Amino acid sequence: MIIKDYDKFIIGGLGGEKKLRGTVEIKGAKNAALKAMAAAVLFDGLVTIDNVPETKDIHTMSEILKSLGTRVEWKESTNKGTKVLEIDSSKITSTDIDLELAKSMRASVVLTGPILARFGKVSFPAPGGCVIGERPIDLFLEGYQKMGAKINLDGDIYKIEAQNGLEGADIFFDIQSVGGTETLMMVAVLAKGTTILKNCATEPEISSVAEWLNSCGANISGIGTTTLLIKGTDGKPFSSNNSYKTIPDRIEAGSFLILGALCARELQITKCKPDHMEAVINLLKKSGVSIKVGQEEIIITNNSKDRVPFKAVNVRTHEYPGFPTDLQAPMAVFLTQALGESSVFETIFEGRFKYAEDLIGMGADIKILNSREIVVKGPSVLKQLPEGEDLYAHDIRAGFAVVLAALVSKGTSKINNINLIDRGYQRLEERLKLLGADVRRV
Ligand code: UD1
Repeated sequence: MIIKDYDKFIIGGLGGEKKLRGTVEIKGAKNAALKAMAAAVLFDGLVTIDNVPETKDIHTMSEILKSLGTRVEWKESTNKGTKVLEIDSSKITSTDIDLELAKSMRASVVLTGPILARFGKVSFPAPGGCVIGERPIDLFLEGYQKMGAKINLDGDIYKIEAQNGLEGADIFFDIQSVGGTETLMMVAVLAKGTTILKNCATEPEISSVAEWLNSCGANISGIGTTTLLIKGTDGKPFSSNNSYKTIPDRIEAGSFLILGALCARELQITKCKPDHMEAVINLLKKSGVSIKVGQEEIIITNNSKDRVPFKAVNVRTHEYPGFPTDLQAPMAVFLTQALGESSVFETIFEGRFKYAEDLIGMGADIKILNSREIVVKGPSVLKQLPEGEDLYAHDIRAGFAVVLAALVSKGTSKINNINLIDRGYQRLEERLKLLGADVRRV
C-alpha cells in the first residue's frame, strides 16, 4: 500500500457506544527496533532484527542507514505482519547523517553514538522529530566530550571527532533520558576501558537491546537498573550474528487497551507483554475498567447490562516503570468519559497538550492550567467538530488520541496530518476496521 504524506482519516463515530469487538495483535516496539538498527553499525557484518514493525520511522531509519553505505534488506518474519531486517554495516562509506532524513525523526540522533564509536567521527544536523516542546541533546554531547570527543557546530551541523578513539568515562545523567542512555551505552561498548553511566533510564527497550548486545560480545552489567557498567572492546566492532527479536510495543498495546476501554464490547490484545504495562493497567483498573491479564495477552470487557461510568483518576507521567508520557494523550481522552475531575500532569516533556484544544472543540471539559498540567472533567458527550473544521495529529501519540476521540464521538470526523500517526502505528485503519470501526484513509 502506498502511504502519502497528505493522507487523511475519515472516521464515523460510535456516539459513545462500545461496539467494537475482536482481537488485535501487537507489533514489535518501534522504539526498540530503531535502537537495534542503530546498534547494527557497531557490527562489522550482518545483523538480523526480527519482529520489526512497518512504521514510517523504521523506513526513515532504514533510509538513513542506506545513505551511509549500509545494506538494508527486508524479509518476511515468522511473526505475520512484521518483518525481518537484515543490516550489513561492513561497507559503510560515509559518517555524515543525511540532513533532511534526520530532521524528520529525532531518534536519528541515537545513530550518532554507534557511528562515532566505530569510525571516530560523525556529523549530523540539529535534530527534529515530534513537535513536543524542547528536545535538547546536551546529554549526548556532554557524554561524547567526557569520552574524549571534540565537538564543532558548523551552521546547524554538528561535527564530532575522536581521532584517538573514545575512552571510558564516569557519566552522570542530570535527567533520565532514554535516548541518552541508549546512545552512550552503544558508544561505551566499543570504547577503551570502563564506562559507568549513572541515573540511566530503565525502559524495557533499553534493557532488551543491552541484553542482545551482550549476547553478541558486549560487556554491560546492571541492565535494568539506573547504573550501567560497561567494559569496552577498545574499538573492535562486533562480528557475531545473533538475531535481535524486537520486544512487543508496550505503547501500542497501551493505546489499544485505552481504545478497548472506550469503544469495545470485548477486545483481546495479543502478543503483548503486560509486565511492561503495569502503570497503565493499574490506573485503568482503578478507574473501573474490567481487564483480565494473561501471560502475553490482555482482555477488556465492557458489560452493557451493569454499566457504571468509569471513575476519574489522576495521571502523572513518569520514567519507566511509571505512567508513560507516550500514553498521556490517549489517557486524557479516556478521562473525558470518566465521572469526576482528573488531573493530568506531564513531567517528561513540556508542551505535550496541543491535542487538548481539539478535544475541547469536540465538547470535552478540559482546563489547560499551564504547559505541564490539565484538568479533565467528565463524562462529556463528544461531537464532531463544527462544519469545515478538521482534527489534527499533532504528534504520533496525540494523533492516536484524536483517532480515539473521533471514534467515541457523535458524527463524522476528518483527521489531518496522519503521516505522524503512520510514524508509530502500522496501518492503523486496517486494524481498526477489523474490530468493526468505520475508518477510511483518503
Ligand atoms: C524516547 C521515546 C519517546 C518517549 C521518551 C520518554 C524513542 C524513539 N522515543 O524519546 O517516544 O516519549 O523516550 O519516554 O525511543 N533531555 C535533555 N537532554 C538530552 C536528552 C533528553 O534534557 O540530551 C530531556 C528531554 O527534553 C525530556 C527528557 O530528557 O525532557 C526525557 O527525554 P528522553 O528520555 O531522552 O526521550 P527520547 O529518548 O527522545
